[in-house]
Amino acid sequence: MERTFIMVKPDGVQRGLVGEIIKRFEQRGFQLLAMEMMYPTRELLEEHYSEHKDKSFFKDIIDFMHSGPVVGMVWYGHSVVKTARKMLGETNPLNSAPGTIRGDFGIVTGRNICHGSDSVESAEREIKLWFPKGVAIYDNKNTRQQWIYEN
Ligand code: RTP
Ligand code: MG
Repeated sequence: MERTFIMVKPDGVQRGLVGEIIKRFEQRGFQLLAMEMMYPTRELLEEHYSEHKDKSFFKDIIDFMHSGPVVGMVWYGHSVVKTARKMLGETNPLNSAPGTIRGDFGIVTGRNICHGSDSVESAEREIKLWFPKGVAIYDNKNTRQQWIYEN
């Protein structure tokens, strides 16, 4: 079982897609562990995207991510990191298959609606960064999960 960090970006929030994105993860069977609407500082965003600090688009992505509130979430489940990336689609929405979040709602790379961690290690790093007080895992094995997993 894994956790991943999903963040509805400012364009997704302004376009009213928060509920749609939550719905997709919920209906897939993943479990929501934490969620908060936040207005992150530039410093937090620079840390979040630090792997891109030398790229030409770094300032643009930080400016954009700082242009309005975002909704950060932690989702839990079997292979949730890789599956969430599939559900998001490709970085460029035009390369994203219909049925994916970016493929259904986006057109350009700089407005691609939603972030998802790209590995288990990135997910744990990002969860610590965005939810520094920690995230609880509620054991609901005996309720919903028995209808999603075999054991
Ligand atoms: P994210 O981290 O936001 O989930 O997106 P990603 O993994 O699909 O893509 P990544 O390579 O991590 O890039 C982070 C964000 O930077 C913007 N970007 N612009 N102009 C460009 O060539 C370019 N490349 C990336 C996108 O907003 C991308 O989501
Ligand atoms: Mg990325």
